[in-house]
Amino acid sequence: MEGILFKKGSISRRMLALFAACELSAAMVAAAEPTITIDANKPLHNVSPTFFGLMTEEINHSYDGGLYAELIQNRTFKDDPKQPVHWSAVKLGNGSAAIVLDQSQPINTALTTCLKLDVQGSGGIANDGYWGIPVKPETTYHASFFAKTNRKSGGPLTVSIESHDGKQIFATAQVPGITDQWRRYDVSLVTGADIKPSVDNRFVISTNDSGTYWFNLVSLFPPTFNGRPNGNRVDLMQMLTAMGPQFLRLPGGNYLEGDTIATRFPWKQTLGDLAQRPGHPGCWRYRSSDGMGLLEFLEWCEDMKAEPVLAVYAGYSLRGEHVNPGPDLQPFVNDALDEIEYVTGDTSTKWGAERAKDGHPQPFKLTYVEIGNEDGFDKSGSYEGRFVQFYDAIKAKYPQLQLISTVGGRDSLGKRFTVKQRTPDVVDEHYYRNAMEMEADAAHYDDYDRKGPKVFVGEWATREGGPTTNMNAALGDAAWLTGMERNSDIVVMQCFAPLFVNVNRGGMQWSGDLIGYDALKSYGSPSYYVQKVFNHTQGDKVLATKGEDIPKLAVQPPTPRGKTAPPAKVMLPSLFYSATRDSKTGAIYVKVVNTAATEQAVRFEVKGAPVAAKGSEIVIKSAKPEDANGISDPTKIVPVTTQVGDLGNSFTRTFAPYSVNVLELQSQ
Ligand code: AHR
Repeated sequence: MEGILFKKGSISRRMLALFAACELSAAMVAAAEPTITIDANKPLHNVSPTFFGLMTEEINHSYDGGLYAELIQNRTFKDDPKQPVHWSAVKLGNGSAAIVLDQSQPINTALTTCLKLDVQGSGGIANDGYWGIPVKPETTYHASFFAKTNRKSGGPLTVSIESHDGKQIFATAQVPGITDQWRRYDVSLVTGADIKPSVDNRFVISTNDSGTYWFNLVSLFPPTFNGRPNGNRVDLMQMLTAMGPQFLRLPGGNYLEGDTIATRFPWKQTLGDLAQRPGHPGCWRYRSSDGMGLLEFLEWCEDMKAEPVLAVYAGYSLRGEHVNPGPDLQPFVNDALDEIEYVTGDTSTKWGAERAKDGHPQPFKLTYVEIGNEDGFDKSGSYEGRFVQFYDAIKAKYPQLQLISTVGGRDSLGKRFTVKQRTPDVVDEHYYRNAMEMEADAAHYDDYDRKGPKVFVGEWATREGGPTTNMNAALGDAAWLTGMERNSDIVVMQCFAPLFVNVNRGGMQWSGDLIGYDALKSYGSPSYYVQKVFNHTQGDKVLATKGEDIPKLAVQPPTPRGKTAPPAKVMLPSLFYSATRDSKTGAIYVKVVNTAATEQAVRFEVKGAPVAAKGSEIVIKSAKPEDANGISDPTKIVPVTTQVGDLGNSFTRTFAPYSVNVLELQSQ
């Protein structure tokens, strides 16, 4: 990661205050009317067809309590070894109920801890979900669980979704009887038409039959995207597919590495029947159910029509453990080869056949494999040898694959060292910065070495605002994106990170995220809309542009931590721009970011192609840079499209303060 002021997990609230001060002290330097000249006849190069993608990992309850549609938290009772967190005993009438974790009744080696319920009279167990259980009208939920009792037969059991106090039952069903053997039970729960959407609810399994009961893998799913069993939340998938990503970088990030070698992403344990998945400790302070396993990641890609960018564990974990290159590393290399075979192999291969057994005979398309994550943090010097060993083994079996190194780029991590004995096809660079830093460095790739590896900006974000980013961040993002788009001959792929955040208290580990949600609702940050709009106006050719008399702002940078004297003001452009063309339609997309507090008129001169007077403009703007969307104000800042006239080969447009604008010019 790169950034002057932000450290991992730091909160950007301080930045907000500092930036409010910056804005006050920023002074526009007066100049003649700015002019942007676009040469429509002079494509500099193609826009990379894989330019725009998404990055994902289990952070901020991205999957459990996020995209993965499971509604029961702690469904296999391993989240806390001492107590059944998120579960409570439910007493009904004059009955009594007591619950406790029990390891004496394992179902198999994956489901080792279960919940024991002792009922006298009437009682049961309740789960409070991921900050509530979302209830919607006319919805069919699928509940399933393993259960047994201490008698030959017991029950029946009543399964229900109800308000947190049990006063309102939204949906209920019965499991007629259970036995003294573990068995899985499935029921449908259907809500009525007249209920209001709500979230302060619980899931309950209860009985009027006194006795002892054990439960495991208790699950509740709402309808999922494309109706996939064990699938994803519909609203979040709709938001992602609406962005139109070309790839998904998976499964992390730090989540790939794990805190330790033992807790790296265990892809083989994430396959097949949920009852065979033990789950594993995540690196972001909560356990992963691994319901979002490798195949679910791939099917998620499939549902978005995006290609996976597969990151393989490369022998380095976050707390500094590493595996020495050579024989010690070989099992990890073999594991990566197996993983690639699981993704791409046909059914005649061992792991291709496994994938078919898991329900997906068709191989997935794979072009890029990333070897590790942020190995610039590995101070042991082992990445050189580890990279070479992975590179040689993967290229020998899969010469067509493009291999990504996590060092060697121009970010702070990449610059620490570079792999010398092999030339990676691509280097991954990460940038987490504030808006001023993004804007100051928007020309970062203009002078980049074109002879070396291509660049994957595999994580980047303007981190202002939280839990999701604010308008100032969106301005920084858009400025940075114009630079990457202009240089997308070298920046072949880029993706914002992190993608998701559960906005409930305790849901977030990293602020400055793209999409926020609770159990019921979701919304996009202004940065989300910048991503979406930029991707849909990407075109396929980058056009030459020239800016003249672009006004500059004198911006006061924040005082670095530990210093008292503020640094000298810096002069930054107040307008950022790029232009692309769609060869099929002839449309020209002109992106203009106005970071100033005042509106700015810009003269455009378009050469080399006749431009129609009528076109359209998409604007994302806000009155104040610290404005943001939120769960209770989800659409404060959204793109607005208008039809505009008075365009042509020579025209002037005025851009609102704090605005991101995309002009679509049509050829005549
Ligand atoms: O995106 C959050 C984290 O930032 C990623 O897990 C890691 O790769 C980077 O340090």
